Order: sequence, then structure tokens, then C-alpha cells
Amino acid sequence: AERSEASGVAASDVSKRLKIGVYFATWWALNVVFNIYNKKVLNAYPYPWLTSTLSLAAGSLMMLISWATRIAETPKTDFEFWKTLFPVAVAHTIGHVAATVSMSKVAVSFTHIIKSGEPAFSVLVSRFLLGETFPASVYLSLLPIIGGCALAAVTELNFNMIGFMGAMISNLAFVFRNIFSKRGMKGKSVSGMNYYACLSILSLLILTPFAIAVEGPQLWAAGFQKALSEIGPQIVWWMAAQSVFYHLYNQVSYMSLDEISPLTFSIGNTMKRISVIVSSIIIFHTPVQPVNALGAAIAVLGTFLYSQAKQ
Ligand code: 3PG
Repeated sequence: AERSEASGVAASDVSKRLKIGVYFATWWALNVVFNIYNKKVLNAYPYPWLTSTLSLAAGSLMMLISWATRIAETPKTDFEFWKTLFPVAVAHTIGHVAATVSMSKVAVSFTHIIKSGEPAFSVLVSRFLLGETFPASVYLSLLPIIGGCALAAVTELNFNMIGFMGAMISNLAFVFRNIFSKRGMKGKSVSGMNYYACLSILSLLILTPFAIAVEGPQLWAAGFQKALSEIGPQIVWWMAAQSVFYHLYNQVSYMSLDEISPLTFSIGNTMKRISVIVSSIIIFHTPVQPVNALGAAIAVLGTFLYSQAKQ
């Protein structure tokens, strides 16, 4: 009996790993598609505040329809739930719009190289704001992460300050989002999928007035006419694709966050960036210098060392 119990535990361990593996692969694939359409849209229609609002709107709409038609179970939420969700939504909104603004100014690969520095932000926030301490090896692993990102940034051919700062702000915001999310999801009956749906809805409400104030319908309409004349009606499909894929990849990432620690999440996220960096460089013919690529490689390697040090 002991043996079969042991093999039962091993089997459930294997199936859990398999499930997380499938989540991760799906998450990365959806994210690559999102990043490509997002950049195609931004190249032709550079209104990141609107496109990030549309991403949240598409997700909110898809989930409201899924609830109404009972494809997905409607979550049972109370005022307390939405109150705890509020800071998460603020962080999600800031991180999302900052990353999109960044990608409207620089190459997708550059935004993601800087975003591969997220674990460094996670350690610094945990250390200085939450008072958590880490072994020396964790701090040492930050050196290649920060050094690699810095090297990639200073050798970037199309460096742009807004692009750089957007990615940095996004890093900081998403560290808070992940810490608060995991806390908010703990012991709650709301699933990862529904948690992300509620997050989208709340973020949409927060972002909409700011998007109108920063860009506004007049610019959107004029820009749209221009994009339509340059690209043709398919610009609408690109916008739809970036919005739908944005929701899908985030939904899958939250389904996996439900099962893993914020640390594993962060590592999975950095590994995801490798596929985004490589595929976007190929698709958009982004010029890269060897030393620039070296910086990115060192940063990603640093994240791997960080994950080893943290375990
Ligand atoms: C966004 O628009 O929110 C960013 O592209 C997402 O960044 P992520 O790769 O950290 O999810």
C-alpha cells in the first residue's frame, strides 16, 4: 500500500508538472502572437493608450459573454473582493500601459530585454519595501541581470528614453501586481481565470478616463483614417488580434499563477521573453549588434542564476 501511495504521489506530481508545462507553452505562444500584432498595430497606429484600453475591453467583453452564456462560471464576489483587487488593478493598468507606450517607441525586443530585468525589481521591492532578506547568491545573481540589461540598453541602436522608462515602470508595476495578486488569490474561491477577468474589468474602468485625457477621440479618429488609408481594412483585424491575444495569454498566465509561486511565475515570464525577443527580431528585421545581443543573453542567464539561487 505504501508503494502504491508513493507512486500515486509521484503520478500526481508528474501530472501537475505536465499541466504547468502545457500552461507555460500556451502562455508563451499566445504572447508571441500578441507581441507581433501589437507592434504591427502600433507601427501603423501609434496610440498606445487606446490600444491598451482595447486589449482590456476585449478581455472584459469576452468574459462577460462567457459568464452570461455560462461557458464560464460567474465568480461570487463581494465588496471586500473588489476592494482588495483595486491595488492589483492599479498596478496592472500602469504596467500594461507603460509597456505598450514603450513598445510604441522602441523595438519589441528592446522592451522585452529591459523587461527581463523584472526579477531584479522583485528582489529590490521585497528587500526594501517588504523587509525580506535573501542569501548573498540571490543578490549576486542580480549583477548579470542588471549588467546585461544595462549593456543591451546602452548599445541599443534605436534607444529612446520613453521606450526605456516605460519598460522600467512596467517592471516595477508588475512586481507589485504579482505580489498582490498571489496574496489576493490565496484561499479565495475565485479561480485564476476569473480573477484575471475581474482584474481586466477593473483595469478597464481605471484606464479609460486616462486614455481619453492623454490621447482622446479626435487623435484616434484622425490616426485611424491615416492607418486605414495606409494599411487598409486589415488594420481592424490586427487590432482585434492584439486585443484578443492579450487577454488569452494573460488569462493562461493567471491560470498558471494559481498553481505556482510568484517566483516561478517571474522565471517563466523571463523565459517567455526569449521567444518574444527572438521571434520579433526575425519578423521585424530588427537590427542588432553582437554586443547588444550579448547584453540580452547575459541578462537572461542572470535570471536563470537567480532562479537557482532562490531555490
Ligand atoms: C503589456 O502590454 O501588458 C505588456 O506587453 C505585457 O507585458 P508582459 O510580457 O510582462 O505580460
